[in-house]
Formats: sequence, structure tokens, C-alpha cells
Amino acid sequence: MGKLRAFRGEILSVGEDPLQAGDAVEYQADGLLVVEQGVIVARGDHADLAPHFADVPVTSLGGLIVPGFVDAHIHYPQMDRIASHGEQLLDWLERHIFPAETAFADRDHADEVAQAFLAELLRHGTTSALVFPTVHEGSVDALFQAALARNMRLASGKVLMDLGPEGLRDTVETARAQTESLIARWAGRGRLSYAITPRFALTSSDEQLALAGELLAAHPEVLLHTHLAENRHECAAVAARFTQAADYLDVYDRFGLVSDRSVFAHGIHLSERMGTRLAQSGAGIAVCPSSNLFLGSGFFHFGEADRLGVKLGLGTDVGAGTSFSMLYTQGQAYQAALAREERLDPFRALYLATTGSARLLHIADKVGALAVGQEADFVVLDSAATPLLARRCAGASLAERLFAMQILGDDRVVRQTWIMGECAWDKDSAKGANCG
Ligand code: GUN
Ligand code: ZN
Repeated sequence: MGKLRAFRGEILSVGEDPLQAGDAVEYQADGLLVVEQGVIVARGDHADLAPHFADVPVTSLGGLIVPGFVDAHIHYPQMDRIASHGEQLLDWLERHIFPAETAFADRDHADEVAQAFLAELLRHGTTSALVFPTVHEGSVDALFQAALARNMRLASGKVLMDLGPEGLRDTVETARAQTESLIARWAGRGRLSYAITPRFALTSSDEQLALAGELLAAHPEVLLHTHLAENRHECAAVAARFTQAADYLDVYDRFGLVSDRSVFAHGIHLSERMGTRLAQSGAGIAVCPSSNLFLGSGFFHFGEADRLGVKLGLGTDVGAGTSFSMLYTQGQAYQAALAREERLDPFRALYLATTGSARLLHIADKVGALAVGQEADFVVLDSAATPLLARRCAGASLAERLFAMQILGDDRVVRQTWIMGECAWDKDSAKGANCG
């Protein structure tokens, strides 16, 4: 037996979709999490478990322990363009985003931003993510190298965009060669996985979309990551170019890009046919409510997606998203649902930000529920992090506290972030820097 260590505190996780399972919420008011070599070997009430682990050193964590958040859609090269004013999607890309991404041809720049990006994820309690880099091969190396050093569970892959703007364009051949060599270099290394990443239908030629399908078929372990039906003008441009396709999703389907390994960001403008096809294929939607509000894209239709059985997770979509915080994003998802007169229960919102997203990334056996056998990635939340939160949460139920943190909370609420049983971020540490 390896060295055991235990963590004591209030523990909450939602390992099933509460819409489907009545007993989805796992909760211990005074719980114990026992970890061996980064993996959870026991979880339960402290009173029950403590006698069985009497010799194991216990760290008491004052706060609510939840699984590390899983961000199912985020762009690391856009972090320094967050809060760029004034445009909807297509103009925002041209004016703010493409110029910023051009700078990632420089590997030193990519390295610097990748480090800052991962630090920001950890500060916000995000331990896993599916990440857009740029078209540049070096941008992927920079991110994977930094994530490997931090032992983070991350998926990414070179952006394919042979119809992109000057300076951000690849070709079918460079896309093939670079993707193959990145997969050989990184897929399955440490806790990393690879995602074939055509930016969206409009920035790839038919030949490149076909290549993406070929690559996906040739590598059964990789994901497919792209954008779908986010913005009305985008949808109109897709319909105008792909006149043979039934709809936006069918464009991807025709190139073999729709399967249970596919993660589509947004899906604001989904038809019944698209929703049905998504559900039937097992493909998932990364819902990105703060981005959808920021770019004026619209509100995700949770009721329709749920009625059709579409697999859902949550993403920040920084830099269109306005916060790295998956807590804040849960609150935004609630507000997006309510805008359509639908309800999002706080436990379901937590499910979407953890196990829901983990299912999209095919890592739900590894993270997301603090279950025995899973990796010990977790966050310690402080429901008294601000004076207002402290007042709102005093004497409140678990559901009320969780909801208050989703609506009022962000990185201020994240006291600590732990990766495989090692402390990776501690807000109160003297230096304010990474601990461990
Ligand atoms: N669609 C194509 N590229 C992008 C991007 O960078 N951000 C968002 N939100 N949508 C996109
Ligand atoms: Zn995006």
C-alpha cells in the first residue's frame, strides 16, 4: 500500500444528472476523503470511516469540498482579449481575436500565456478543461507542456483553419502533418488528451473538414472540438455556403465529425432535427452562457435539449466568456435558463460543471464526482468569502448556499484547489502563489 492521506470537511458532488437520477447528490456534512497516490480510495462520513484509517494523517479543510471544475470549452490565446468591446461574433473575431491569435506564432509568447492561463484556471477551481489554442503547432506544445508540468487533466489540439485570415491560415497538408505529430507527441501523456479542432465550418475548406473526419476515424482515442450554431449571422453564412447540407450540424455530419467523441460549443440555434441527431450520436454541447450573453448570441434552450436527450456540459468560452469562474458560469446558466422560463436547479448546475462536462471529455471515469477510484481533483469553497455571501449563507440550506455561490461567487470563493491530492492553489498562502 502506498502512502495514504485523508481530507476532512463538508463534501458535495453530483455524479449523475439529477434530471435522470433521483439520488444524484452525494453529500457528507462531515466527510472524509481518503487518497492514495492521487486516487480516492474511500469516501464517507467521518464518523464511519475514521476508525478504519486511524493512522492516516488528516488535513481538515474548512469549507465545502466539491470536485474540481471541468471547463468544456475555453480559448487560452484569448485570455488577454477578454472584455473586448462592441461586436457580435464575426466582427468580434475579425477585430479583436484574430489579431491576438496571430501573436502565437511566437513560441515564447505562447509559453508565457499558457502559464498565466493555467494559473488562472487553478485560481478559479478549474482542474480539467477542453481548450482551443491557435492554428500554430507551437501554441499546442506550449499548453501541453505547461499542463503536464502541473499534472492537469487537459484536452486540446491544433486549430484547423485553412480559410482563416492572413497570418492564421494553415493548409490541408500542414494541418495533417502537424496534427499527426502533435498526437504522437502528446496524446495520452500524463493526464493529457488530444482533440481534433477545426475552428468552425466557415474557416475550413471542404477538403480540410474531410481531413478532420479522416483524422478522427484514424485515432479512436481523440475528441472532436468545434463551434456550432452560436450566432445568427454565422448560421446564415453556413447555410449560404453549404447549400447541400440539411442544417449546420449536417455540415459536420457529412464530413464524419458527429459522434460521441464530438464536443460542440454553444448550440444556441438548434433545430429539432439537430437536437435529435446530437442525442442519437452521443455528441455533446458545451453550453457557454456568459459568452452567449456577452456576444449577444442568445440563450441556450435547456428545455429543448433535455427533452431530446442531448448530452450537456458547461464552458466559460473565455475570451468571449466574461469569467474563468465555473461557479459564475453556473449562475449564468441559471439566468439563461430563466430567460426562457426554464429552471436550472443548483445541483444540476454543479453536475453540468463537473460530471456533465467530464462526460463530454470522456474523462468521467477519472474525475468529476469524487468517487472511489477517481483522481482526487477537488476545490475548497468558502461560502463566507465576502461579507454579503456570509450574510446570505448564514443558516442557509446546502442548496441555498450553493446557489448563492453560483450567483454571487467567483474566484474569491475558491480557497484551495487540489490536483491528485496535492495542493495546487491556496488563496490564503502567505505568498498568494501556488502552494504544495
Ligand atoms: N466561432 C469560431 N471561432 C470562435 C471563437 O474564437 N469564439 C467563439 N465564441 N466562437 C467562435
Ligand atoms: Zn469558443
